[in-house]
Amino acid sequence: MTDLVAEISRRRTFAIISHPDAGKTTLTERILRAGGAIQLAGNVRAKGERRRTRSDWMGIERDRGISVVTSVMTFEYGGCVFNLLDTPGHEDFSEDTYRTLTAVDSAVMVIDAAKGIEERTRKLFEICRLRDIPIITFINKMDRESQDIFSLLDEISSSLALDVTPATWPVGRAAQFVGTYDIFNKRFLMEEELPQSDERIIQLGEELELVEAALPPFDRESFDAGHLTPVFFGSAMKEIGVTSLLDALAAFGPSPRAQETETRKVNADEEQMTALIFKIQANMDPNHRDRIAFARVCSGTLTRGMRVRHVRSGKQFALHTPQFFFARDRQLAEEAFAGDVVGIPNHGTLRIGDTLTEREDIRFTGVPHFAPEILRRVRLDDAMKAKKLRQALTELAEEGVVQLFRPQDGAAPIVGVVGTLQLDVLQARLQGEYGVSVGFDTTPFSLARWITGERGLLEKFIGANRAAIVDDLDGDPVFLSGSSFMMQRSIDANPELKFHAIKQIG
Ligand code: G4P
Repeated sequence: MTDLVAEISRRRTFAIISHPDAGKTTLTERILRAGGAIQLAGNVRAKGERRRTRSDWMGIERDRGISVVTSVMTFEYGGCVFNLLDTPGHEDFSEDTYRTLTAVDSAVMVIDAAKGIEERTRKLFEICRLRDIPIITFINKMDRESQDIFSLLDEISSSLALDVTPATWPVGRAAQFVGTYDIFNKRFLMEEELPQSDERIIQLGEELELVEAALPPFDRESFDAGHLTPVFFGSAMKEIGVTSLLDALAAFGPSPRAQETETRKVNADEEQMTALIFKIQANMDPNHRDRIAFARVCSGTLTRGMRVRHVRSGKQFALHTPQFFFARDRQLAEEAFAGDVVGIPNHGTLRIGDTLTEREDIRFTGVPHFAPEILRRVRLDDAMKAKKLRQALTELAEEGVVQLFRPQDGAAPIVGVVGTLQLDVLQARLQGEYGVSVGFDTTPFSLARWITGERGLLEKFIGANRAAIVDDLDGDPVFLSGSSFMMQRSIDANPELKFHAIKQIG
């Protein structure tokens, strides 16, 4: 019998967050190579192509050469089992990117040394902060001209309200960058040794004194609570600093954390298997209408053939063919432990936010809805298909493809997404699966907030803003606005109401 506690404590389930072009793909590739997984995974970036292509389950994916599938890359390193959950980034940025972050125990934040904190990084960081996920920072592209290192650290600290502590320090800058000094273990990590008289060594000595005087030492508790980030310097391209990062994840990267349910906390090492569905992928095989639900095992051991309770419906569900995903490949999962992610084929029974357990009637509170940033009105090409469209939109919104909003003034439905690829997926699936052809019209809105408050006051606000109020799938009211300035004005004018950027599902 496998030692459950030992298996769980060596799991490291993490994601890489970054702004496009900071080097996430390059770093992923280097990490997989260091973990010995690259042969199996194939190249993360196909040769000669700028964007990655890992699967081709859908026409748009082939046409545009981007991956819609959030894959899981599993490899062993330093005695640990790493599950690296891919967070789609460029044009494939979507709500799934956010949802994936609700299934990890830590995140590596990649920052371009010349650019500092960029918009997408900040957004993804905020999602991590919701759950106080520990963050490890990797400052990339040190082989190029960078910003002043101390100002960079200052920027991270002040703009993200996060303590920073350097774990390594760069030796030399730009073309002179040759490696790092490992502050935690007091050793050089360089390919060649430099004489004490080398300018870079002298600079290092001076800077380390400043570091010691100005920055807090590493504090494990503060890191675990998501308040302090250790910072690593490197160059993914030149493979500098990558193993330090992995060593750190193995040494102090958090193992699967306890997960909140509506009634109690579930510890990862509990015997009972529990799992949370955080993402649904439809039609990976275009010939079938099957869907894959991505489940994070939250406690215990999941075994193939196991019968589980689907808490939302109260029904039993047999896990006949749970699968491990491995970039392009899948394989049957005979056994998975807390921290692992498995794909569960089903025909629409499983939804985002669903809980599976061996017996207990508990629901995880894990996967929220995120306020969409792009709002489009759906234009139906054939008016005869209005009813079909309504049903199709409801089903696809339930699956989490887009968020669906019905205007209270009776106008055509509005769909909301965080990345435009979601609109392409919606359009393709409406056509392919329902035979409904649609287009999207712009709206005057660019921000959405769920509104709550005392009933009378809420109704008064809704009555006064009817044209900007929509109902979400659950019938909860959402207020739309054209700019953050206008939104802020409404918030300030209605202090008794609450405006939420995030809504808990369930
Ligand atoms: P992303 O996934 O975060 O979008 O970034 P990606 O790894 O695709 O890297 C973006 C660009 O930055 C790529 O160059 C990549 O080679 C480069 N890059 C990544 N890491 C480093 C680094 O440590 N140092 C330097 N100097 N460059 C780095 P590209 O020209 O846009 O693409 P390609 O022609 O290299 O494929």
